[in-house]
Amino acid sequence: MADLLLGQVLSYADDPFATGPEAARHLTHGAVLVEAGRIAAVGEAAALKAAHPQATRHDYGRALISAGFVDAHVHYPQTAIIASWGKRLIDWLNQYTFPEEMRFADPAYAADIADRYLGLVAANGTTTVCSYATIHPESVDAIFQAAQGRGMRLYAGKTCMDRNAPEGLRDTPQSAYDDSKRLLQKWHGVDRLSYVITPRFSPTSTPEQLAALGQLWREYPDCLMQTHLSEQTDEIQWVHELFPQARDYLDTYEAQGLLRTGALYGHAIHLTQREKARLIEAGASLIHCPTSNTFIGSGLFDMGSARHLRVGLATDTGGGSSFSMLRTMAAAYEVAQLRHASLHPSQLWWLATQGSARALHADHLIGNIAVGMEADLVVVDLASTAAIAQATARAEDIWQAIFPTIMMGDDRAIRATWVAGRSLQRA
Ligand code: GUN
Ligand code: ZN
Repeated sequence: MADLLLGQVLSYADDPFATGPEAARHLTHGAVLVEAGRIAAVGEAAALKAAHPQATRHDYGRALISAGFVDAHVHYPQTAIIASWGKRLIDWLNQYTFPEEMRFADPAYAADIADRYLGLVAANGTTTVCSYATIHPESVDAIFQAAQGRGMRLYAGKTCMDRNAPEGLRDTPQSAYDDSKRLLQKWHGVDRLSYVITPRFSPTSTPEQLAALGQLWREYPDCLMQTHLSEQTDEIQWVHELFPQARDYLDTYEAQGLLRTGALYGHAIHLTQREKARLIEAGASLIHCPTSNTFIGSGLFDMGSARHLRVGLATDTGGGSSFSMLRTMAAAYEVAQLRHASLHPSQLWWLATQGSARALHADHLIGNIAVGMEADLVVVDLASTAAIAQATARAEDIWQAIFPTIMMGDDRAIRATWVAGRSLQRA
């Protein structure tokens, strides 16, 4: 059984940071044919309707069909503490995050939040996330099981911490290695699931723990590795005190085999020249989390100097203040404006789809609409509220039509989310 989705279709033939908005392909009356979980054809609606008369039609009218959003850095266990008031990073972790993460010792609670979280992201048009779990192995099982049940492509790993965290949220170098390895062997490559080696960040891991995870990564080199880097200045100062030998924050990872292609560094705001040069040389990915960076008061990510790296976009739930990648694109725009750079809508949309997929080394599978790619799609109403509709009514091209939804849109704009060729919402 094939499905034929009809609407405006947006895809990319190239990187708009390299070639400008012409990198995008837009069909005003387009169609996407989905068969067996994959994209089987893309083209003009009239031609595809004629060629595939048997396909079930889903006519989305003027709505925009795009690759589903890819959220490259989240903490699903922080779902219930999103929008917690008044703290900066370290106090926010101690006051809100760690007590909540303790609750994931209970597998039933972990399963409940995993299910709630994936429901929220689907309602926001996100089809893939790369998530931290908690230190509890059961919290990894919970998110993978929930994703598996939905047919999602999802990345996750057990968060490892062996110091500077409360009793009950600490593992050891050995148990972090053993638990991570067991979970990796259980889940990595099963259906659409990928295990990610996950030291939380240098302040909560001893050099011995970072070394143990570096060793694990050498044993399983095709995995990704995710952690945090240079988010707040106080945190960087703390890292200098904890690692007096290290040249800089990045060096605390580099020294333990945790810097190479496949490394995903969240935030990466306050980087030295050496760090920037090494990140480029190593082929690492940076994950920009703009709503988090303003909400926790961390700083302004420098998209300009990240141009030569793989850059993904992310909500950083629940340090970030939204589950929506539309809201996240808006925040990325605002952060760039504060740095006197204007990101074009084609670049913002690309970051939320192909850019994030590329950061996760999955852009051959997800993040774009092209024949053979997995059918993870979002259908976006470009006139979802009265405020957006009146602005869009004046649009003279597709980017003017999309930008009000980027800046003001939320889950009300999501008409449908398709995962592996199946619609999760009624059209
Ligand atoms: N650094 C270490 N852990 C975290 C976290 O959970 N959220 C954010 N925003 N930064 C972190
Ligand atoms: Zn994070």
